[in-house]
Order: sequence, then structure tokens, then C-alpha cells
Amino acid sequence: MSVLWLVLALSCLVLQQVQSNKYEGYKIYELPKAKARSAVLDQALAVLSMNDTHYEVFSSGSQPARIMVHPEEQLNFVQLLDGHSLNYRVLNSNVGRTLRRQFATDRKLRNKFPYRGNGRLGTERFYSHGEINQYIEDLAQEQPRRVFVKTVGRSYERRLMKTVTITNGDGRRNKNVILVDGGFHAREWISPATVVYLIDELVNNLSENADLLLDYDWVILPVVNPDGYEYTQLSEDTRMWRKTRKPSSADCIGTDPNRNFDFHWNEGGASDNPCADTYAGSNAFSEPEAQVVSDLIHSHAARGKMYLTLHSFGPYILYPWGWTSDLPDTVADLHEVAQAGFDAILADTGTFYEIGSSTNKLYVAAGASDDYAFNAGFPISFTMELPPGGTGFDPPASAIDRMVKETFVGIAAMARKVVQKYPLA
Ligand SMILES: *[C@@H]1O[C@H](CO)[C@@H](O)[C@H](O)[C@H]1NC(C)=O
Ligand SMILES: *[C@@H]1O[C@H](CO)[C@@H](O)[C@H](O)[C@H]1NC(C)=O
Ligand SMILES: [Zn+2]
Repeated sequence: MSVLWLVLALSCLVLQQVQSNKYEGYKIYELPKAKARSAVLDQALAVLSMNDTHYEVFSSGSQPARIMVHPEEQLNFVQLLDGHSLNYRVLNSNVGRTLRRQFATDRKLRNKFPYRGNGRLGTERFYSHGEINQYIEDLAQEQPRRVFVKTVGRSYERRLMKTVTITNGDGRRNKNVILVDGGFHAREWISPATVVYLIDELVNNLSENADLLLDYDWVILPVVNPDGYEYTQLSEDTRMWRKTRKPSSADCIGTDPNRNFDFHWNEGGASDNPCADTYAGSNAFSEPEAQVVSDLIHSHAARGKMYLTLHSFGPYILYPWGWTSDLPDTVADLHEVAQAGFDAILADTGTFYEIGSSTNKLYVAAGASDDYAFNAGFPISFTMELPPGGTGFDPPASAIDRMVKETFVGIAAMARKVVQKYPLA
């Protein structure tokens, strides 16, 4: 009997070791919006969070802040908050456990909903970069007059980066263009998931969306950072990766592709530290993935009316500039289109997006793709930060359907406004 207990106890121990991951015991705290915090506290928080092995600030800006804290630092952190009598709450008491459960669910869903190679990807689960590439190839085969796939580059790890161009099939050339991308930041899985749903709606629901394809073509790059995206799908330990996967120094890997564009590059909101999550790169366009997006922007700038890049999390609809708090001369146009998305989403689900310029609503972030596209000639250029889910960047698979449908309502409303404001010349 005692031997049996020993075996049981040992196997539990082994099992626990197998299951535990890097984020075991990490907690996520939610703090009130910046307006409700004292400057003194914010300074103290800024100092603490410079310890980037023990702190990660998931969100700040005008939404409530979320901070992930290493078990060793939690006492310290809570004492600081209590010392300032701040009302915080523990949003997640063990990030490792949450991620473990999500990975187990994702594995089951992959088996239950395999991609059947039929040009249909549902909203049941998240897909790999390879599956998404295969999906757009299959769509193009199925609808050769309406859907066109083009290989536009390769990632650092040589993954093929493919765009899908969606038309209404009338064969007319030189229409205006809406350019959309997703998957800049590896861990923001809901972004490629939303892109997949957008593609499905535009291709398979033409009757509902005919007005969005009459004088406009849509050019879509589903995953800008495929190396990072695949890396986050490996295990719980890599789930929170944000950057590309090219070595940035002898010790560190990755550049923030959304700080790597050659427009006021590295002038604020980016880091010179190759180990930091917002590392701007050794130079502008050091990352092949950012170069690919830049090429796309330039090749469509003459006819491009809206550039939309999908991130998480907010929710925010952000327009230029991200490098300065100054507003562009045409801010009224930008705001009008963003407002159309805001109104449509609020009416559909009640989700309240914040809209405004990147710098003023979120933070300074120079070298981002939306500023770059706007400067290159797209009159409308947005970063859409989708709502949080899970601990923030990790909405569970069960949230995909609701989130992508909600976001599509906003995208369609903004596109309708663009189509009305910028008729075909
Ligand atoms: C971060 O915090 C941990 C735990 O308190 C500490 O051991 C470590 O030295 C700190 N690192 C830095 C760079 O301050
Ligand atoms: C097509 O769009 C309509 C209106 O948005 C929606 O109700 C319907 O579910 C969509 N159909 C498909 C097949 O996606
Ligand atoms: Zn992002």
C-alpha cells in the first residue's frame, strides 16, 4: 500500500513538472485608467516595470492598465499599490494554468476541426500560418476569377508571405484599393483570425458586401510576422512572444516589426535595447517582413484609400500620428471613418472602442506601419486594436466567433464610409 502511494505521489510530481511552464504563478493585475492614478505612483510603476524579466505591462494608455508580474515580485508590487491606496484587482491568478488549459483545448480543436483543403476555415479555432496560406491558395483555385494569390516575400526563416486579392470578378482593372494586414505581433492571434473571417465574408458573402467590391479591390496579407506567429504556437512558454525571430544581438532575438518602418524611425516609443519587446531594429527596415509591407504599401499607394492593420488589444481605432501628438491636417476625414466603425460596433454588440490618434489615445510609437502608409498616400490609415480576451492577448478559441464577427461589422462600416468618401476617379 505504502509503495503504491509513493508511486502515485511520484507520478503526480512528474506530471506536475511536465505540465508546469514559464508562466506558472504569474499574476495579471488590472489597475484603474491613468486618469485615476497619481503621477507619483505611475513613476514608481515605471521604475518597477523596467525590470523586464519580472514585469510586463500589457496595456496602458487610456484603458485600464494590465500588468503581468512574476511570482517573486508580487509582494513588492502589491505593497506599492497598497501604499498608494489604489483599487486594483487580480485579473488572473495563474497565467501558466490559463495558457496550459488553452493549449490543451487548442490541441483538441485542431483534431476536431482539421483543415480539409476545401477553401473553408471556420471560427472554431486558431490556424497556423501554413494553414492560412493553403486556405487562400484553395480559395483562388475555387474562384479563379475573383481571388488572386501572390507571393510577396519571405520571412527571415524563409516562410512564404502571400497576399490574397479579392475582387467581384467583373474583370475591371484599376479600382481603388483597401489594404489590410494582420499578425504583426506574434501573440495577437485574434488578428489573423479576424483576417480569415474578413476574407471569408468578402469571398463567400458577395451579395451582402457587393458595394464594398464594386469599385474597390481588397488586398490582404494575413500574417505579417509568420516566424513569430508560429513560434507562439509551439508551447505555453513561447505564447507571449511579440517580435520577429531574427537575432537582434548576441543574446537576444527579434525586432518589433511595428517600430521598424522608415518614417521618423526610432524617434519615440521604441527601444534601442535589442532584448526589449519594442526594439526598433538595428536600422529602419532591418526586418524583411516590414520591408514586404512597405513594398505593398508603395505598390498600392496610388489607388489605395484605406490601410488597416489589425492588432490587439484595446479596444481602440487609432489613426496617425504615432510619432507625434500633433494631428494630421485631414484628421476630420480620419475621425469620420473611424467614427463609422465605432458607431456600427457599438450598435451591434455594445463594445465601446476608443478612437483617436495613436499618440494621444495609446502612446508614442514611431516607426509604425500606419504612419508609414498614411505618409505614403493612403488618405485613411488605421491601427485597430481588438478587445482583450483571456489574460489580454490570448482570447480563447471559444471567443473567436464573437470577436471576429463584431470586428467585421466595424471594418465593413469603415469600408462603406471610405467607398462613399473616395469614389473611383
Ligand atoms: C528583478 O526583480 C528580481 C526579483 O525581485 C530581482 O532578483 C532582479 O535582480 C531584478 N532585476 C533587475 C534588472 O532589477
Ligand atoms: C452574410 O452577411 C449577412 C449580413 O451581414 C449575415 O447575416 C450572414 O450570416 C452572412 N452569411 C455568411 C454565409 O457569412
Ligand atoms: Zn500589436
